[in-house]
Amino acid sequence: MTTLLTGIGQLVTNEARDGSDPLGLLTDAAVQLDDGLVSWVGAGADAPASDVVVDLGGRAVIPGFVDSHSHIVFAGDRSAEFEARMAGRPYSAGGIRSTVAATRAATNDELADRVRSLLTEALLSGTTTMEVKSGYGLSVDDERRLLEIAGRFTDEVTFLGAHVVPPEFAGRSDEYVDLVVGPMLDACAPHARWIDVFCESGAFTTEQSRRILEAGIRRGLGARMHASQLGIGEGVRLAVDMGVTAVDHCTYLTGEDITALAGSETVCTLLPGVEFSTRQPYPDARRLLDAGVTVAIASDCNPGSSYTSSMPFCVAIAVREMGMTPAEALYAATAGGAAALRRDDVGRIAVGSRADVVALSGSSHVDLAYRPGVALVESVWRRGRLVVS
Ligand code: NIG
Ligand code: FE
Repeated sequence: MTTLLTGIGQLVTNEARDGSDPLGLLTDAAVQLDDGLVSWVGAGADAPASDVVVDLGGRAVIPGFVDSHSHIVFAGDRSAEFEARMAGRPYSAGGIRSTVAATRAATNDELADRVRSLLTEALLSGTTTMEVKSGYGLSVDDERRLLEIAGRFTDEVTFLGAHVVPPEFAGRSDEYVDLVVGPMLDACAPHARWIDVFCESGAFTTEQSRRILEAGIRRGLGARMHASQLGIGEGVRLAVDMGVTAVDHCTYLTGEDITALAGSETVCTLLPGVEFSTRQPYPDARRLLDAGVTVAIASDCNPGSSYTSSMPFCVAIAVREMGMTPAEALYAATAGGAAALRRDDVGRIAVGSRADVVALSGSSHVDLAYRPGVALVESVWRRGRLVVS
């Protein structure tokens, strides 16, 4: 059965027609959906006959957001930590261990309920693809069960056993890395597409990170990283050196880091919710874009450093605080996220792409930054099915 979305005032396809318009904007457009895929895109006047016709009355339509970085399999709450931070206490990765304790104590059903409710929340703000990491289990059994739970909801599952060193391995980080690259990877690799590591002072060193990523790559996993969140480090250069798919956070970058990223295929994922929620300085996306780096925007939804699932919120902050134009930020949150997951079937609206389509309440995508905090997502089709209306 075909569905025609017509009366689209402004359509963001992300299929660039020339360099001046990376969003590939069409006006007075229509999109046909068939069997979960986009089957036709063009001028409303030329639209093919379809079984169902939905007139969007001049609204703007964008591809569903592709959120390439989240940690939503967890239990517990860290609102008190946030409150203390807003009263002046700095963010430290140490808070991760309190979520680990709560997560280990939670049942599978409790964890799955949390994932379901956060994915529903994200969908209501237009996210149709979400990567989900483990990383709050940090034992063989707990990491495996977090990945199994994540896998019930998404194909983009990431093994982050190397999030921090758990308390029972305090002072023995190399022994923990032995566990991660040995029995934990054996148990977890069948349940994940990606391996990730938090390469940062206070988490894992550059050498440990290399070891962990190489072990994952040998098991057929794609590699991604957390780096340069809390200070300048060697993580970004390691990412480029190893051809890692995406290096995420990148709050503190040197000129050399930017040059290295610009000459690489590695996507740089910015996480504006983290700087917002931890009161860190925002990274300068303008510098990255001007250097030619591929930039993604993601939520990093997690209970410590960024407890938001809203990609429109992240887009608005990236525009206001990171020097991006509204078009660049939207592209980074859709096509950029797809690049960060090596996907070409999502993050765009083109014949053959997945029918993940979001209609906004207004007539321009610029509203995402221009009208911050407003619920602008009116309807969402995911795999061609109307799931929000
Ligand atoms: O991406 N940086 C490491 N991990 C998470 C923070 C998780 C937490 O604070 O619980 C992040 O920001
Ligand atoms: Fe993260």
